[in-house]
Amino acid sequence: MTATLPPGTRNGGPRGWPLLGNLPAFARDPLAFFTSLRDDYGDWVPWTLGPQRNVLVSRPELAGELLGAVESTFRPTELGWAVHQLLGDGVVVATGDDWRRKRALVQPAVRPRQVRAYAATMVECADALAGGWREGARIDVHREMGGLTQRIAVRTLFGSDAAGREGPIGAAMATAQRELGAEFRGLTMFLPPWVRTPGRSRMRKAVAVLDREIAHVIREHEAASARGVDRDDLLSRLLAARDEHGAPLTRKGLRDESITLYVGGHETTSTTLTWAWQLLSGAPAARARLTEELDRVLGGRLPSYEDYARLPWTRQVVQEALRMYPPIWLITAVAGPEARLGGRAVPAGTRVWTSPWSMHRDPRWFPEPESFRPERWDADAPHPVPEHAWFPFGGGPRACLGARFALVEAALILAVLGQRFHLDSGSGRAGVFPGLTLQPDRPVPATLRRPGR
Ligand code: HEM
Repeated sequence: MTATLPPGTRNGGPRGWPLLGNLPAFARDPLAFFTSLRDDYGDWVPWTLGPQRNVLVSRPELAGELLGAVESTFRPTELGWAVHQLLGDGVVVATGDDWRRKRALVQPAVRPRQVRAYAATMVECADALAGGWREGARIDVHREMGGLTQRIAVRTLFGSDAAGREGPIGAAMATAQRELGAEFRGLTMFLPPWVRTPGRSRMRKAVAVLDREIAHVIREHEAASARGVDRDDLLSRLLAARDEHGAPLTRKGLRDESITLYVGGHETTSTTLTWAWQLLSGAPAARARLTEELDRVLGGRLPSYEDYARLPWTRQVVQEALRMYPPIWLITAVAGPEARLGGRAVPAGTRVWTSPWSMHRDPRWFPEPESFRPERWDADAPHPVPEHAWFPFGGGPRACLGARFALVEAALILAVLGQRFHLDSGSGRAGVFPGLTLQPDRPVPATLRRPGR
């Protein structure tokens, strides 16, 4: 039997409960569940979630092959009511030819040349935040990073038309994202759309506010572009986008893609930063190297987009934070009739899972995986990371559209704030809470100190 299974397969997978399958173990602690599936059963593990047949794959090449096959022999997983409510038919939700067209329309808005234009806003917002901080003060790191990336998201998306609207947009987005996380965690995402819950009614109200506010911003942008005003924000780029037939995004399309870019980029980046600060707080040598690099390269001035390439250690801190705490901690796809993986046929309808969390903490690809070691990303590191072993941004045709945006944003924020402050969390350490993204399980308080202290 084992001979017909791919390399790394052992013991055939965990036994499940009648009807529920492995749902109880998965729901109790999905991160530990994935890690134990890999440790106890190998790199290809069949398991069940109620009637749903699943396979967890834990080898980099299998993850790479899976991600590469999404939109051909595999299809993306259905995302549920709350995601549809918030993101409409945006690029994250769309599939097939509809997705291809939308991805082509959105991509130009986030290509590196555009990210260069957004970098100034990122630095400006981080500088304003640092300007309000005082040495010795106590802050909640996660809250501060959430507020900062939210301001950056609203301004890079909507530019000056967002003035005065940041409050309502930010509050409605925060409610919507909370409800999205709650649906996901509570598994209510599997309830049919007509089922009403208090969470769903909060979501509907938040979406109504967003629809109103964003419709207003879109009208102002359309009027400005009719006057020939050229702007550098994301919405202006979406307005200018044309598909291969010369057709623009509709108003509904502009609304859906704006919200998609906001939701895709805000919480993922703020949690990355929160984890990076917590990790740095417990790693004096890594922190000293950060301070040295920032002093040497920037000499007290604010960074620009060009400095991103000149700050390798800062980038490696981000890369290592994304390894230890990948915000998107699982990725799944459903096998179509022709699906194959690792040389074997996968029965149609099987949901194949791969987890950046368990892959990134596998000692075979990352020696001492529980240690924060940005030096593992040095160009001449003794243990090169295998292809596809680090995939916080997914991979294949549906890989993250905002990876460059996020990496630049996180590094520039570390550079602006890290020049002036060390965020000292003392001996307190937050653990992980696997919601829609990998959140800290409690507030992350820190005392603001001068760097080098
Ligand atoms: C650290 C920050 C980020 C992380 C870890 C992250 C992670 C991911 C991952 C893993 C996927 C693929 C999901 C899957 O295949 O199921 C994805 C897709 C996506 N991301 Fe990100 N992301 C981040 C930031 C951003 C930003 C800043 C933006 C926008 C400016 C963005 C926009 C998108 C979009 C539009 C997609 C859907 C692409 C498609 O389906 O074709 N992300 N992201």
